[in-house]
Amino acid sequence: MKVFGVLAACIMLLQSSVICRNLKVVPIEDKDYWYQEGKNRIQNQLTKKLSVNRAKNVIIFVGDGMGLTTITASRIYKGQINGELGEENYHSFELFPGVGLIKTYNTDMQVPDSAGTATAMFSGIKTKSGTFGIDATLPTGECDPAVYEAAKVDSILKWAQDAGKRTGVVTTTRITHATPAAAYAHVSDRDWECDSEIPSQYRDCMKDIARQLVEDSPGKDINVIFGGGQQQFGFGNGDGSCVREDGLNLTAVWEENRKAEGVSHRFVTTKGQMEELSTEEKVLGLFDFGHMAYELERENTEQPSIVNMTVKAIRMLQKAENGFVLIVEGGRIDHAHHDNYAKLALTEAIMFDEAIAAAVAMTSRENTLIVVTADHSHSLTFNGYPERGNDILGFAHNESDKKPVYETLTYANGPGFNVHRKEGAIGAEDYLWRDPTLMEDRDEMYYRHFAPIFEKSETHGGEDVAIYAIGPFSHLFNGVFEQSYIAHAVSCIGNFGPSKYLCNSSISVKAVSVLVLIMSYISSRLV
Ligand SMILES: *[C@@H]1O[C@H](CO)[C@@H](O)[C@H](O)[C@H]1NC(C)=O
Ligand SMILES: *[C@@H]1O[C@H](CO)[C@@H](O)[C@H](O)[C@H]1NC(C)=O
Ligand SMILES: *[C@@H]1O[C@H](CO)[C@@H](O)[C@H](O)[C@H]1NC(C)=O
Ligand SMILES: *[C@@H]1O[C@H](CO)[C@@H](O)[C@H](O)[C@H]1NC(C)=O
Ligand SMILES: [Zn+2]
Repeated sequence: MKVFGVLAACIMLLQSSVICRNLKVVPIEDKDYWYQEGKNRIQNQLTKKLSVNRAKNVIIFVGDGMGLTTITASRIYKGQINGELGEENYHSFELFPGVGLIKTYNTDMQVPDSAGTATAMFSGIKTKSGTFGIDATLPTGECDPAVYEAAKVDSILKWAQDAGKRTGVVTTTRITHATPAAAYAHVSDRDWECDSEIPSQYRDCMKDIARQLVEDSPGKDINVIFGGGQQQFGFGNGDGSCVREDGLNLTAVWEENRKAEGVSHRFVTTKGQMEELSTEEKVLGLFDFGHMAYELERENTEQPSIVNMTVKAIRMLQKAENGFVLIVEGGRIDHAHHDNYAKLALTEAIMFDEAIAAAVAMTSRENTLIVVTADHSHSLTFNGYPERGNDILGFAHNESDKKPVYETLTYANGPGFNVHRKEGAIGAEDYLWRDPTLMEDRDEMYYRHFAPIFEKSETHGGEDVAIYAIGPFSHLFNGVFEQSYIAHAVSCIGNFGPSKYLCNSSISVKAVSVLVLIMSYISSRLV
């Protein structure tokens, strides 16, 4: 094999499958290379067996806004950071055996928001955008007590708690932000993160999201809660997104309530304190006033990375006898995209993958289902004719006679519009856009990629997102599904919640495969 130089990076996924790739060596990608690549992958695929164990533990990773373009671009970016050309790289989760596509629309929107999509993923029902933990019968932004009660739906966390499992939620956003909050709260407006956001006529009907986490089921019974959002709990101003008017200090209330329950518990605000946690039954970690720092901003903070939080959460939850369910959100991929900050978004996606790889390393394929998906996509596009190995954050072609020069990664809309618009350009013969090769801040994390339509906040995208699964029954995710299917499949595989026992019948699958083995053995002896 003339192809491989140094086999420096191996990703171990299944016990029996190792995929290795070469680092810093430009392979000769002739026909032998591709034949070998194809054969290796077949051998790898053939080692994958249908697993019909039940999952004792479930970890659901949600890359907020991590559409397929983000996955491809961040895979290349990571490869390039490691000195490779980039295109041949894989994220760890891309080698999972179960892979499918997810239809993300909300009941009222073709292109969805995170509130409706999180309700689909976590409660198994689609609902309206901007609302979560309720079905589509309650008018958005309103509250009628009887309709509200009837509209409420339970989440995976509630199903798991009822089955005696421990539960956890980890996010890099405010813990009260739509995606994590849909796992425990029920609101007709995702902005009701603290009391002052709720119109006064509804405050008796519906609690704010932070209070629901601290006081109500399943929030109060969650064992591990890590994220940002101190201001929603009554501390200071943060980013000013929500300042409590009721004077409650909800972390103090959380501590009092856990004390009244008689469970060991601790509230922490720094990475150092988080690392000290060990045997507490319930922990609340709020590491920022608002959203946590982007990974590239984190250096001078006392905040843990998403990898640190994921590892700690799994360690704490692994103490559970009956298993656990953990939700981990890489929440700021989405925020970076909304600002057209492609470099920040790709870096967040890479860190998200590292958290997934850490979770795979700490758990068993026999008893732990790991699912990786996104709630929705973004308007990011990846195009032009850049050469192989071209800087993924660079330009779409590199031939001096080809004008205009533009970026490989651009957005269909967003605030990048203003950065790129040429001062005084009037259109037609007068080209409207600045030459990006002359923009001096292109390497900076807050550089905004091009957008031809102005939007203060870049928008989500409506195409399908991917889902990847490893562990018991990962093949249940092979196909194209409604997003609400995810919760049902997890319920079936984990043997808790409304689809409990539906995966029972697969015991016969096990029996059939044993039978087939015996028969093929017998027939081989006969021949
Ligand atoms: C709220 O209570 C926590 C303890 O849970 C305490 O550390 C914090 O200082 C309190 N915040 C305010 C604003 O009183
Ligand atoms: C925290 O995570 C970073 C990567 O994000 C890693 O380099 C570091 O070792 C981790 N720290 C601990 C204490 O696990
Ligand atoms: C074009 O390619 C040349 C040589 O490969 C390289 O030095 C240059 O930086 C590239 N220019 C752009 C705009 O990417
Ligand atoms: C599934 O198996 C459980 C035991 O694990 C049993 O209690 C239950 O009745 C079975 N349900 C069905 C529908 O087969
Ligand atoms: Zn968003």
